Amino acid sequence: MVHPFSRADRAEHAARFERVDAAMAAVRREGFLPEQWRREAHLDQPFELVAGQTCSQPTTVRAMLALLDPQTGDAVLDVGSGSGWTTALLAHLVGATGTVHGVELREDLAAWGGQNVAAAGMPWAQVHQAEPGILGWPAAAPYQRILVSADATEVPAQLTDQLADGGRMVLPVHGTMMVVEAHDGTAAVVRTAGSYRFVPLR
Ligand SMILES: C[S@@+](CC[C@H](N)C(=O)[O-])C[C@H]1O[C@@H](n2cnc3c(N)ncnc32)[C@H](O)[C@@H]1O
Repeated sequence: MVHPFSRADRAEHAARFERVDAAMAAVRREGFLPEQWRREAHLDQPFELVAGQTCSQPTTVRAMLALLDPQTGDAVLDVGSGSGWTTALLAHLVGATGTVHGVELREDLAAWGGQNVAAAGMPWAQVHQAEPGILGWPAAAPYQRILVSADATEVPAQLTDQLADGGRMVLPVHGTMMVVEAHDGTAAVVRTAGSYRFVPLR
């Protein structure tokens, strides 16, 4: 059978998942779940954090991080940081020469998720509470990578404005996972990658 991807493409694809799997092994989900769910952290399902907001399902997080493919030293924005798990995973992936800014709309989750991230011991990652009417965290832009864990109604210009030239954003739009890349001042969807259910981006 003729494979549509070259051997080099397949090796790169496998390497991306290996990096993500290593991060998921190093940054355990248990530390980012409310007490009552910790013993079930290994289950491939979302868990409620508070008021319908969830810690995403591991296979979804894995797929999104592999699409995002953050590199050592990258500046990353994590929109909808919730429990802080994705923020900490991103921090592991970019390493101490990178930076990760998690941003969360809910005050209680921003505080709790921020504590969880701090406890993970990677001070190059921090969580902010979103400022009213502002999407993302423009103060630290531009970012080489942006991860969005809530469902948008369109690709938000406020976020593409925070993307560095050559940067990449992964986000669900109306339930479809999209990969957006910025080149020469223009951001465009370069790929769609399956259907997912997320809480809405507000
Ligand atoms: C699926 S949940 C949390 C995912 C998180 N990455 C995790 O694994 O715990 C999505 C989060 O997005 C937050 N959210 C929704 N709209 C937002 C916005 N405009 N800015 C920041 N956070 C937002 C919600 O409050 C919710 O906590």
